[in-house]
Amino acid sequence: MKSFFITTPIYYVNDTPHIGHAYTTVAADVIARYKKLSGFDVLFSTGTDEHGQKIQKSAEEKGLIPLELANKVVSNFLRLWKRLNIEYDDFIRTTEERHIKVVQKFFKKLQENGDIYKGMYEGWYCTPCETFWPESQLLEGHRCPQCGRPTEKLKEESYFFRMSKYQESLLQAIEEGKMRILPQSRHNEIVSFIKQGLKDQSISRTTFEWGIPLPGDPKHVIYVWFDALINYITVAGWSSDEDRFKHYWENAYHLVGKDILRFHAVIWPAMLIAAGLKPPKMVFAHGWWTSEGEKMSKSKGNVIDPFAMIERYGVDQFRFFLLREVPFGLDGDFSTKAIENRINSDLANDLGNLLSRTVTMVEKYFKGQIPSDTPATSDLKLHNMLKEITPKVKKYMDEFDFYRALEEIWTFIRRCNKYIDETAPWILGREKKYNELSIVLYNLLESLRSIAIMVYPFIPSSAQEIWHQIGIDENIKSAKFDELFNWGNYKPHPVRRGRILFPRIEKKEPIGVKGKEEKKVEEKEYISIEEFRRIKLKVAKVIEAERIPKTDKLLKLKIEVGEEIRSLVAGIAKYYKPEELVGKRIIIVANLQPAKIRGVESQGMLLAAETGEELALLTTDREIASGSEIR
Ligand code: ME8
Ligand code: MG
Repeated sequence: MKSFFITTPIYYVNDTPHIGHAYTTVAADVIARYKKLSGFDVLFSTGTDEHGQKIQKSAEEKGLIPLELANKVVSNFLRLWKRLNIEYDDFIRTTEERHIKVVQKFFKKLQENGDIYKGMYEGWYCTPCETFWPESQLLEGHRCPQCGRPTEKLKEESYFFRMSKYQESLLQAIEEGKMRILPQSRHNEIVSFIKQGLKDQSISRTTFEWGIPLPGDPKHVIYVWFDALINYITVAGWSSDEDRFKHYWENAYHLVGKDILRFHAVIWPAMLIAAGLKPPKMVFAHGWWTSEGEKMSKSKGNVIDPFAMIERYGVDQFRFFLLREVPFGLDGDFSTKAIENRINSDLANDLGNLLSRTVTMVEKYFKGQIPSDTPATSDLKLHNMLKEITPKVKKYMDEFDFYRALEEIWTFIRRCNKYIDETAPWILGREKKYNELSIVLYNLLESLRSIAIMVYPFIPSSAQEIWHQIGIDENIKSAKFDELFNWGNYKPHPVRRGRILFPRIEKKEPIGVKGKEEKKVEEKEYISIEEFRRIKLKVAKVIEAERIPKTDKLLKLKIEVGEEIRSLVAGIAKYYKPEELVGKRIIIVANLQPAKIRGVESQGMLLAAETGEELALLTTDREIASGSEIR
């Protein structure tokens, strides 16, 4: 089976996971799931980057040893990946023995090839970015050109990797397309960077200890990026399982944010070429998320917490938004308004409605199952459109162009909804044209079966739920992307109307942003138990009910509340006939100040649940004496 190896960056363990980490990892998960459906033998890895000065400092500040800090943060990442439904095959930590061995072996290999030498390093170091900068690239005040924070001048003995030697072979690999850099604009950036000339790379440090000891000179630890990049071949099995390594490294794809593209598209392939290995097939650098128009930062308190998002909107909704909102490769802005619009329009209105309309009609006109001999090929309008879009979806998915892939899929979903309007199944039903009607429904069911396969990588559990509701029991993972081309695979089964797939979202306050203020508002809305107790709720029994003349909403009730008889006015005449109410047990607010309404004294208020056009009275679950208190 053809292999496909997809990686995410391994994340630093000094930070809690946020939307940026979720983004890359969800994107990788989408690719991995898509490739599995397309018949590839997929290896999908993610993990954590646990060495280096930054982690050591951050642990010291918290009074922990670095590994304790790492263990804590790793558990947050693992929890998030589980919550986000990320199906990785390997999770690598750079503090694992299997990795340390590989890094040391890799170092020795370069050393044997004569590509490592000892020298003096003099330069400016940015610890948050774990990056050395030449003086010429610094901002005013010796600040880091990447993050703007101050750098430190370092002069120390260091081992170097002879990167300059590989400038030409690296350029060649890129220009011959052996290693692709996407999007195209990033390719151009990297090529011109390399053409400016590559310098040798310092790869060891002596001023702190938290790193992999350098073989043969334990005063030095290996530079954290040299260590971290090697994780990819540790996972693939380099020097531990050569067959496995050969199989997966053949087709290695790195997904990274644009912040760390140079490490992946310059230093890493140069290291690989020096070790006699192939560069990765592709490095894709995606864009950067901001939050409600601003750069995310802890001090601003506007960091988007994926757990909170999932809690509020749902896992699939969040996954979908990340890939639907912004063309992959460009920067994007997260706002509650944007995610709510996406959920309501694309998920609730388009996809959710298509499913519920279809399933409801199958129930209504065919008692839940269309005839099993309904011909699949009698009306090919939807099939023809599906045939048009599937090759495009495939092409876009292969290029990681999720945005356009989703656009195509949604064109089809909207077409299906329009098909319902055009064929007007309710008229066919009224006129008892059941043959035609079953054909229309077959077309919709078969389309939904295909749509579920196409959306599965993005919203896996919802896709499975679509299959379930249209009566397919198999695990959708067993589907093949190529099946989309065989119209007629749907075999009529009893449908199962289930939960609403994507409930509409009511507008909410921005979160993450101004998180503290939002909490205050919520607290203000709490009431104390004493406040609640001031409201006396009681069970009452309706003895008489009649309309109040010349009104269309009001009923006058006579109710029994224990020993007492009271009169009460209620605006429920549109929903209940007077005779329906007599004998019912209702819930009233017994200590509401009496009021005269249309000349009738109302001594209390009854409780009802209301939404839009519907209303239902509250009652008790079993019979209980009137006058009973509700607490
Ligand atoms: O750089 N928007 O780890 P890191 C989009 N350990 N993506 C974002 C983002 C944002 N605002 N913020 C973070 C490291 N990311 C190294 C990597 S790999 C051998 C070593 C994502 O924890 C994006 O993928 O700083 C970015 O490249 C990565 O997190 C940086 O994670
Ligand atoms: Mg970073």
